[in-house]
Parts: sequence; C-alpha cells; structure tokens
Amino acid sequence: MSPKSIFSTVLVAIFAVFASRVVINPSPQFLKYLVDFSITSCSSSSIIATFIPFYFDGLHRHHRKHPDKGKTGSICDDFPPNFPPPETNRTLTLCVDRNGCCNFTTVQSAVDAVANFSKKRTVIWINSGIYYEKVTIPKTKPNITFQGQGYTSTAVVWNDTANSANGTFYSGSVQVFSANFIAKNISFMNVAPIPRPGDDGAQAVAIRIAGDQAAFWGCGFFGAQDTLHDDRGRHYFKDCYIQGSIDFIFGDGRSLYENCQLVSIANPVAPGSKGINGAVTAHGRASGDENTGFAFVNCSVGGTGRIWLGRAWRPFSRVVFALTSMTNIIAPVGWNDFNDPARDQTIFYGEYNCTGDGANTTLRVPYVQMLNDTQASIFLNTSYIDGDQWLQSYNN
Ligand SMILES: *[C@@H]1O[C@H](CO)[C@@H](O)[C@H](O)[C@H]1NC(C)=O
Ligand SMILES: *[C@@H]1O[C@H](CO)[C@@H](O)[C@H](O)[C@H]1NC(C)=O
Ligand SMILES: *[C@@H]1O[C@H](CO)[C@@H](O)[C@H](O)[C@H]1NC(C)=O
Ligand SMILES: *[C@@H]1O[C@H](CO)[C@@H](O)[C@H](O)[C@H]1NC(C)=O
Ligand SMILES: *[C@@H]1O[C@H](CO)[C@@H](O)[C@H](O)[C@H]1NC(C)=O
Ligand SMILES: *[C@@H]1O[C@H](CO)[C@@H](O)[C@H](O)[C@H]1NC(C)=O
Ligand SMILES: *[C@@H]1O[C@H](CO)[C@@H](O)[C@H](O)[C@H]1NC(C)=O
Ligand SMILES: *[C@@H]1O[C@H](CO)[C@@H](O)[C@H](O)[C@H]1NC(C)=O
Ligand SMILES: *[C@@H]1O[C@H](CO)[C@@H](O)[C@H](O)[C@H]1NC(C)=O
Ligand SMILES: *[C@@H]1O[C@H](CO)[C@@H](O)[C@H](O)[C@H]1NC(C)=O
Ligand SMILES: *[C@@H]1O[C@H](CO)[C@@H](O)[C@H](O)[C@H]1NC(C)=O
Ligand SMILES: *[C@@H]1O[C@H](CO)[C@@H](O)[C@H](O)[C@H]1NC(C)=O
Repeated sequence: MSPKSIFSTVLVAIFAVFASRVVINPSPQFLKYLVDFSITSCSSSSIIATFIPFYFDGLHRHHRKHPDKGKTGSICDDFPPNFPPPETNRTLTLCVDRNGCCNFTTVQSAVDAVANFSKKRTVIWINSGIYYEKVTIPKTKPNITFQGQGYTSTAVVWNDTANSANGTFYSGSVQVFSANFIAKNISFMNVAPIPRPGDDGAQAVAIRIAGDQAAFWGCGFFGAQDTLHDDRGRHYFKDCYIQGSIDFIFGDGRSLYENCQLVSIANPVAPGSKGINGAVTAHGRASGDENTGFAFVNCSVGGTGRIWLGRAWRPFSRVVFALTSMTNIIAPVGWNDFNDPARDQTIFYGEYNCTGDGANTTLRVPYVQMLNDTQASIFLNTSYIDGDQWLQSYNN
C-alpha cells in the first residue's frame, strides 16, 4: 500500500471507531430551518438555538426596527453614515447586502469584482444576514477583508460534505486560498447534517484557510466534524467562537488562538461510559522540519461530550494549551496518538497553567509535556506566528 492509501485506511478505521462510539444525534434538519428562517419568518429561532447557543439577531433587526417593512426603502436605511468610504491608495470598500441595498447581494460576487493581485486592501463590508452560498477566494486575490456586523448577525453558510465536494478539503463553506486575508465580526458555518454513527464522508468544513498571514477577530466558526480547516500558513484568531465535535480545529497551520471559546457539541456520554466522542484538534504536522502547530492562549474549552484536546493526525502533531480553562468534558487522558504508539516519540503536546476540572493532569497520557515558563514562552504571544512581520500592519 502506498503511504497515502495506508493513511486513508487508518483514517477510515479511526472514523469507524469514532462513529461506533457516537450516540445517535437526531438530525436537526438545521439547514432547512435556517433557510426557512432566513427567507420567511422568525418562528424557527428556537430550533436554531439548539444548534447555535444564541440568537441570530441580524435577521430580526429589520423587523424590529421597521415593523412597517412594506414601506419601500425602509430596509435600506441602516448603513453607517458616509458609507462606503471613498477609495484611497490603500483601501477600497465593496458593499454586500442580501436585500439589495448596495452594490452586491452575494459575497462571492463582491470577491469576483476584486482585481487580481491588488496591492491595495479590499474591504468587503457585509451587512447583517445569512448569506447562503459557497464562497471561494482564489490565490490571485490577496489582501481581502470580510467585515461583518457581529458573529451573531452576519454569516456565510453552506452545507457541502466530503461526499458532495470531492473530499473534506473542498467541503468548506468558505475557502481562502489567498494570502493576507482578514475577517472581522462574521461567522462561517457548515450546516450539513451532523454525522451519525457509520456515516462516511460526512465531514463538513465551515472554512478552509490555505493562505499565509490570515487574521480573524470576533469571528464564529460553526460545524460538527472538521469545522475549522486551519490548513497552512500563519494565522491569528482573537475573541473567536469555535464550535464542533470531532477534530474541529484541524490542519497544518502555525496558528495562535487568543481569548477564544472552544465549544464541543459532541454527544454527551452516558454515566459510567468510558467513550470518547470527539477532539478539539487534529494537527497535521508531518515532519520535524515543519514549523507548524496550534497554540491556544487564554481560551476556554467547554460544551458537551467527552473529548480529547488533540489527536495526532500526523506523526509530528504539535499543539499547546496555555492559560486555558477546561471543563470536565476533557477526557482525563487528555490526548490521543491516533492509535499509533510510534507517534508518542514525535508528537509535541503541551499544557501550561491551565485551569478547571478538565485540566487535571493526574491521569494524562505519559507523552504530554507540562511546560515550564521557558518552554511555554514561545507559544504565548504573536511572535509565535511572526506577528511583527505582518499582523501589526493589520491594526492600522
Ligand atoms: C496616492 O497615489 C497618487 C498616485 O500614485 C499620488 O499622487 C498620491 O500622492 C498618493 N496619495 C497618498 C496619500 O499617498
Ligand atoms: C457601487 O455603488 C456606488 C453608488 O451606488 C457606485 O458609485 C460605485 O461605483 C459602485 N461600485 C462598484 C464596485 O460597483
Ligand atoms: C482574475 O483572473 C482570472 C483568471 O486568471 C480572470 O478570469 C478574472 O476575470 C480576473 N478577475 C478580475 C476582476 O480581473
Ligand atoms: C497585499 O498582498 C501582498 C502579497 O500577499 C503583500 O505583499 C502586501 O503587503 C499586501 N498589501 C496590503 C495592503 O495588505
Ligand atoms: C444542502 O442543502 C440543500 C437544500 O436543503 C440540499 O438539497 C442538498 O442536498 C444539501 N447538500 C448536502 C451535501 O447535504
Ligand atoms: C478531487 O480531488 C483530487 C485530490 O483530492 C484532485 O486530484 C481532483 O482533481 C479533484 N477533482 C475535482 C473534480 O475537483
Ligand atoms: C465587532 O463588534 C463589536 C460589537 O458589536 C464591536 O464592539 C467591535 O468593535 C467590532 N470589531 C470589529 C473588529 O469589527
Ligand atoms: C482572557 O480572555 C478573556 C475573554 O475570554 C478576556 O476578557 C481577558 O481580558 C483575557 N485576558 C488576557 C490576559 O488577555
Ligand atoms: C504559571 O504558573 C507558574 C507556577 O504556578 C507561575 O510561576 C507562573 O507565573 C504562571 N505563568 C503565567 C504566565 O501565569
Ligand atoms: C485530579 O484527578 C485525580 C484522579 O481522578 C483525583 O484523585 C484528584 O482529586 C483530582 N485533583 C483535583 C484538584 O481535582
Ligand atoms: C524548562 O524545561 C527545559 C526542558 O526540560 C529545561 O531545559 C529548562 O531548564 C527548564 N527551565 C526552567 C526555568 O525550569
Ligand atoms: C513574546 O514573548 C517572547 C518570549 O517571552 C519575547 O521575547 C517577545 O518579545 C514577545 N513578543 C511580543 C510581541 O510581545
């Protein structure tokens, strides 16, 4: 067998093991409700609330503010003053509104309008609402910003799966292949049915980030298995909300996650059961030469299920949790070597000054490292992702 087919066999086996442990979760038909909800009424909000623990208030905004919504123009009067700002040498703003109140009604049409290889940053300002579309940013379009109105009000939503998209890697509702991407106050969601035991190819990515130097502030990432494909490059996440079940942050990125909420929707385990039905991370570092790894600093991990902090998707998988609070959903062993003990020698899994019931290290696997101050220091700030070379300029 080629290494590739061995890998897929292992992967299939692992997912089968996983699936058999997962308690059936009734399919919420979430997508249907979401579509109905966004097109017609407000009556399905409670069903949405079962999947997303808060209210997508953007969809209601117009109803509240404009009870007489039959009046023409009334839904278009909520733009900021003097909007859009004039084009400058450094920035161009494009506007997206699903109700047709400005130039573009879809996010993809705005992306399509961006010039190839622009040195200028293009801010795609996206008004409140759910944008039900698959969005791809090609490699030829660096320097794009998605500016939403809040991660509970603006979302790009699609429902591809590994089966429908020629593999997990192409299932993303949003796919970013370009460098220098920024997103602020917006959510990325994949609402494909939550995988049931035995389901094959049900992985469903909300966003794939395959470009270098990407940053996310105040963003939401919603899905179940494989939500956030932190594929490759240096990435920064701050004040984000990340939801999933199995391997919900995966890929081979070098990334810093600060002040983020990591929320498991893995199935709860029955009292007395030893089952483990999810993992926060599956980092894909394949060799010791790769300078990649996920660092979580001042985050929280909670939700449902019993999950690992990480699984060694590739032999040199590297993940650090620092100064992070964890509830008792974390399996006492903490980590998993993908059932390949040879990986115990090459994995780099570290914990540093974490708190909460889930951070009790008494029963942890032997290969996890409890980092000291010196060892932890390289993971604790934006220097880990060379932030001085690029991230600082994003704040201007
Ligand atoms: C913008 O570019 C134009 C033409 O290249 C140049 O004349 C102008 O000085 C620039 N403005 C600023 C603020 O850099
Ligand atoms: C967007 O609309 C404004 C005013 O309606 C217009 O001036 C501008 O050229 C449009 N921009 C694009 C990129 O279509
Ligand atoms: C960008 O390049 C692609 C092909 O390379 C072309 O199809 C597309 O029209 C270009 N887009 C713009 C906005 O120039
Ligand atoms: C635009 O992208 C290029 C290449 O990724 C980068 O060198 C440049 O600094 C970016 N410019 C801005 C304004 O972000
Ligand atoms: C996505 O949702 C649409 C509309 O409900 C449905 O027709 C389609 O089959 C779904 N796709 C997948 C891959 O589940
Ligand atoms: C499907 O994915 C494989 C690699 O995963 C790629 O080689 C192939 O070109 C893809 N096919 C299509 C139709 O996108
Ligand atoms: C995001 O939204 C919050 C609350 O509405 C606001 O305070 C903040 O300035 C926004 N941040 C960005 C980066 O858009
Ligand atoms: C830690 O994160 C919380 C929000 O999750 C934030 O309020 C607090 O300021 C952060 N602390 C530091 C030191 O950044
Ligand atoms: C981590 O914990 C150690 C020992 O309790 C303490 O000395 C150190 O100051 C803590 N580090 C941070 C950054 O809180
Ligand atoms: C940590 O876990 C061990 C084994 O389950 C238990 O005996 C111990 O009391 C726990 N420590 C704390 C501080 O909860
Ligand atoms: C931290 O751990 C490393 C590796 O085990 C060791 O070389 C170093 O002396 C330790 N530093 C401190 C301050 O304990
Ligand atoms: C990050 O921490 C390292 C080690 O403590 C330090 O050398 C570096 O200056 C810090 N960088 C920033 C941007 O604070």
